[in-house]
Amino acid sequence: MMQHCFDYIDRNQGRFLQELQQFLRFPSVSGDAGYKEDVNQCALWLTDHLKKLGLDAHCISTRRHPIVRAATRGSASKRVILYGHYDVQPADPLDQWQTNPFKPDLRDGFIYARGATDDKGQLFAHIKAVESLLQTAGRLPCEVLFLLEGEEESGGSSLEEYIKAEKANLAADAVILSDTDMYDENTPALTYGLRGTVALEVKVKTAAFPVHSGSYGGAIGNPVTVLSRLISSCVGPDGRILIPGFYEDVRPLADWEKENIRRLDGRDRNLMAETGVRKIFGEPGFSTLERIWTRPTFEPNGISGGYEGEGMKTIIPAFAVAKISLRVVPDQNPQKIAGLVSQYLKSICPEYASLEVTVLSTSWPILFDVDNPMFQAGRKALQCGFGAEPVYMRCGGSIPVVNTFWQVLEKPVILMGFGLNSDGAHSTNERFKINNFIRGAKASAALIASL
Ligand code: BES
Ligand code: MN
Ligand code: MN
Repeated sequence: MMQHCFDYIDRNQGRFLQELQQFLRFPSVSGDAGYKEDVNQCALWLTDHLKKLGLDAHCISTRRHPIVRAATRGSASKRVILYGHYDVQPADPLDQWQTNPFKPDLRDGFIYARGATDDKGQLFAHIKAVESLLQTAGRLPCEVLFLLEGEEESGGSSLEEYIKAEKANLAADAVILSDTDMYDENTPALTYGLRGTVALEVKVKTAAFPVHSGSYGGAIGNPVTVLSRLISSCVGPDGRILIPGFYEDVRPLADWEKENIRRLDGRDRNLMAETGVRKIFGEPGFSTLERIWTRPTFEPNGISGGYEGEGMKTIIPAFAVAKISLRVVPDQNPQKIAGLVSQYLKSICPEYASLEVTVLSTSWPILFDVDNPMFQAGRKALQCGFGAEPVYMRCGGSIPVVNTFWQVLEKPVILMGFGLNSDGAHSTNERFKINNFIRGAKASAALIASL
């Protein structure tokens, strides 16, 4: 039966790619209000596509962006939920793309576009898996329920609220998603842990307005100096975070994880080539993969203040502001961490400056127990679709709703990523390897068929 289905996938590869290109044409940037209607149009296209495949599909409005919900028809005693997000990150800086981010381009075995890997291409692999099973086997061994959101990239909570409100109607045996990476080009992976996030905005003010630095310099404080000192006080030169109590709740690694990571570790060279840095940097005492997958981090994402235009301007700025996000790991509580950061910053902020810390969003870290039958099924399916033995890994990134699925449905969440680190998610020239799209669709079909 799988052979039939895999043949169908191979035969229809060209059409699948054309459809994926249509999907990628929508600039569904959820974080920018200017794209609201594009996000909406993208959700409608997706709903329509799922209807054409014979699913019972609806576009559900929310306070922000729609949720696309689609179920296979007919009754089956089991149900799996397939999750994905159809929203994307902004595409800027545009001049650094080789081709237009919203005019998908096929070259060198990749499809290039914003969202190609994160997450439109990966979620489309699951849609094509379901189509292929329906077309070749007629019916599925379980009901498949797609829940596709449009707010993942912008810290939205509509799907979380929907899952909580609809809990009674969402009972499922498992949740499956692909919004993560493979270990490398030849090695698929099941991801059993994600880091959580704390996103903050920090603003320092001194004078009520910018003033002449000759008339006032020496007599009043400079908010840019203060903000940079506040930020650099949070991290030591070796990368260790200096906020009191910060590491208190970090759960030590299990022995099997240490051993597993030790076997997989060897990526410093790749990371250097992928990013162009001249040396790998980070907290001492942990290997590179340990630091990315299992340690918390503190990263300013942007900073501004004062005059940033052409030429010079001799002023003391009135304020300076930074966006900072932290990654947190089990068993850190993101709210508690937000409190620790804000308390520490307040304790070291000089009296002549005022400080405002706003928590923009938080999400929980998660860790699954790999000793459950769903993970075994996931491994077999990846092996079947990719023809290679998968590995277990954690992921440095975050997918906030995974925690909601786990809390509310109490069922394992299978993260089977088809992306690659080098796909450039969130970056310029984002791409998705066509072969991984096809092998991913096969793995997804194999998993659904095996349930
Ligand atoms: N697909 C990513 C998560 C991810 C990141 C997987 C890196 C594999 C490697 C997801 O779309 C994402 O970008 N999540 C955000 C969440 C944030 C906006 C709360 C993240 O990790 O920054
Ligand atoms: Mn994603
Ligand atoms: Mn993303």
